[in-house]
Amino acid sequence: MRASRIGFGCAAIGGYDYGPVDDEVSLRAVEAAFDAGVTLFDVADIYGLGHAECILAKGLGRRRKEVVIATKFGVRWDAQTRHTFKDISSGYARKALEASLRRLRLDCIPLYQVHWPDGTTPIEDVLEELDRCRKAGKLRAIGMCNFDPHKDGGAIAEFDVNTIQLPFSLIDSCHRAAFDYGRNRLGVRTLAYNVLAHGFLSGKYAPDSTFTGSDLRTRKNSFLQGDADANWRVVELLKAAADRLGVTPAQIAIRWALNQSSVDCVLVGAKDVAQSRQNANAINMTLPVDIAAALDEAAKGLAGRGYAKPSHAQ
Ligand SMILES: NC(=O)c1ccc[n+]([C@@H]2O[C@H](COP(=O)([O-])OP(=O)(O)OC[C@H]3O[C@@H](n4cnc5c(N)ncnc54)[C@H](OP(=O)(O)O)[C@@H]3O)[C@@H](O)[C@H]2O)c1
Repeated sequence: MRASRIGFGCAAIGGYDYGPVDDEVSLRAVEAAFDAGVTLFDVADIYGLGHAECILAKGLGRRRKEVVIATKFGVRWDAQTRHTFKDISSGYARKALEASLRRLRLDCIPLYQVHWPDGTTPIEDVLEELDRCRKAGKLRAIGMCNFDPHKDGGAIAEFDVNTIQLPFSLIDSCHRAAFDYGRNRLGVRTLAYNVLAHGFLSGKYAPDSTFTGSDLRTRKNSFLQGDADANWRVVELLKAAADRLGVTPAQIAIRWALNQSSVDCVLVGAKDVAQSRQNANAINMTLPVDIAAALDEAAKGLAGRGYAKPSHAQ
C-alpha cells in the first residue's frame, strides 16, 4: 500500500474538537487535499461521533476507493449523553469495524487502527481479532496509536502490525525514540500527529488567544504545555523563516517534521481549502540548512516536554 507522506487529518471536520465547522467547507477541504496529491486520510469513529467518517466519504466520493483511509476505534460513546470511554475489547472491535465500514461506504478499510489502550484489554486479544478481520478481507492493514512500541513490540511483530501513530512536533518530539525503535527494529511505518501542535505552530495565535465551547484548546492547551516561553520562541523562529522563504510558518513546521528520519508520514488537520492546500504543498518545499539546524536545535531543547510522555522518553 502506498500513500502520500502528508496525510489529511480529519479530527477538525468532525465539528467538535476544533469548534464548530461548516460541512460544506469541510467537503471542499477534503477535495482540495486530494487534488493537491494527498492520498492518506486519517480519521476515527469518535471524531464528531461518526460525523467525520461520513464527511470524509462524501468529500472523496468514488475516489475513496483510490486512497488510503486510515480510521480508528477504541473510544466508545453514548449517543444520548455523548459520554465517551475507552474500550478495545474484541467484541467491540467487531462492532466498531462494521459501523466504520458503513459510514465510510467501503467493503474493506485500508488501515484500521487501535486508538488508545483501554487499561484493561490485553493488546494481544484485540490484535488477534483484527488479524481475523484482516484474513476475512474487512481490513488490509493494522495500526496502533498511542502505544509504546518498546513495551508492545512482541505483539506488534506477532500480529504483523503495519503502523504506529504518536504525537510529534517541533515542540513535542519526545516520541522520537519510539518511532526510531518502531521503524528500525520492528519494521513498522510511523505516522506523526499534532504536527502543528493544535494550530499553535501556524503562528496565527498570540499568548492571549482564547477558545470557546468544545474546542480542545480550552482544555488541553499546547500553548500552556511545558515551557511556554520556549514554545513561543519556536513560533518566532518559524515566522522569521517563513518571511524569508515566502511560505507560511505551518508549512515550515510540516516540512521540518517530514525531514525527520523517524517519521514516515505526517497527519495534519485542516478546516478549510486554504489550510488544506497549504499543508499539502509543504511537500514541495526545501528547508535551507541553516533554518533546519536552528529548528533542530530548538526541538532538541524541548524534547521530552510532551503531554503524552512515555516511560522511555528522555
Ligand atoms: N491517534 C490519535 O490519538 C490522534 C490524536 C490527535 C490527532 N490525530 C490525527 O492527527 C491529525 C492532526 O492532528 P490535529 O488535527 O489534532 O492537530 P494539528 O494538525 O496539529 O492542528 C490542526 C489545526 O491547526 C489549524 N491549522 C491547520 N492547518 C493550518 C494552516 N495551514 N494555517 C493555519 N492554521 C492551520 C486548524 O485549526 P484552527 O484553524 O482552528 O487553528 C487545524 O484544525 C488529526 O486530524 C487526526 O487525524 C490522531
